[in-house]
Amino acid sequence: MHIFVTGGAGYIGSVCSEEILNAGHQVTVFDNLSEGHRSAVDPRATLILGDLMNRDEIFAAVKGARPDAIMHFAANALVSESMTNPSKYFRNNVSGGINLIDAAVDAGVKKFIFSSTCATYGTPEKIPMDERLAQKPINPYGQSKLMFEQILNWYDRIHGLVYINLRYFNAAGASDKFGEDHRIESHLIPCILKVALGQREKAEIYGEKYTTPDGTCIRDFIHIQDLAAAHILALGRETSVSYNLGSGEGFSVRQVLDIARKVTGHPIPVVVKEPRPGDPPRLVASSHKITSELGWRPKYPRLQPIIESAWAWHQKHPNGYGD
Ligand SMILES: NC(=O)c1ccc[n+]([C@@H]2O[C@H](COP(=O)([O-])OP(=O)(O)OC[C@H]3O[C@@H](n4cnc5c(N)ncnc54)[C@H](O)[C@@H]3O)[C@@H](O)[C@H]2O)c1
Repeated sequence: MHIFVTGGAGYIGSVCSEEILNAGHQVTVFDNLSEGHRSAVDPRATLILGDLMNRDEIFAAVKGARPDAIMHFAANALVSESMTNPSKYFRNNVSGGINLIDAAVDAGVKKFIFSSTCATYGTPEKIPMDERLAQKPINPYGQSKLMFEQILNWYDRIHGLVYINLRYFNAAGASDKFGEDHRIESHLIPCILKVALGQREKAEIYGEKYTTPDGTCIRDFIHIQDLAAAHILALGRETSVSYNLGSGEGFSVRQVLDIARKVTGHPIPVVVKEPRPGDPPRLVASSHKITSELGWRPKYPRLQPIIESAWAWHQKHPNGYGD
């Protein structure tokens, strides 16, 4: 199959492209490199430089590629930034997304795999979180992703565009070649590893008075190669659906720090800061639905090997991609 990958120069899109290519498919990456990196694009893929906000560019790119399916990773994805600049999130994640699905309909593309998020649920009423939970986002990032899920539903009903919403929990880890290098790094594991690399003095803990056993937030980490495997399985799906994707186990920020200390051999000192607005205390996935319907199972169910793969990549690329 030929897969059109928006955001393929970013963290998750780069590893998904690599795995799709390894599975024998063809990949066209569409990215404006606002957050991604040219050298994060697998050399076997075709890279089109373009912006989703430019309707002509995305229409021409999709029409020219004539893909069998689109995987849509391109977005702005910082919860805290969305709490101060909601406009950026609604414009890029919703309006940019509409340009893309209009281009898909125009070019006759029938399958669309969307990078959604557990942030669409907000603060969950129940853990582990399955797909039946009410979606009540508590930040504009999560709201923008939920709005786009709802728009996709109408495009299926009206245009027959089959969508698979993959609601990721916290993506983590690296492949041998590609890893996590966000321009503004706020994700827990790379922030901690930067301390172990000697690039930051202390790891930051945002809040230690949450209603969790050690008072710090609890998150569910999923290896990006496991995420990639789910995308490849989703290509075989013929009707629209939403799936949660996580390892099913929650780790507190302090537990993540302990594992990172073990992996890196560095004491990783910490500083406790104020809680960040828009951060729910506990997010843990039930991935039962995708396991039973598509046969997906994580190859990295444990956190330590996930952090080990991230650490190996960061040691090889202490300054990230450098572009
Ligand atoms: N990282 C996570 O833990 C996580 C969790 C849940 C969901 N997600 C979702 O997964 C997707 C990928 O996340 P990531 O961590 O790889 O982010 P990322 O920032 O590394 O990648 C996003 C890519 O999209 C590109 N992009 C952004 N806006 C664009 C535009 N208008 N036109 C063209 N390209 C554009 C960026 O240059 C970048 O390469 C996002 O949609 C995000 O919301 C991520």
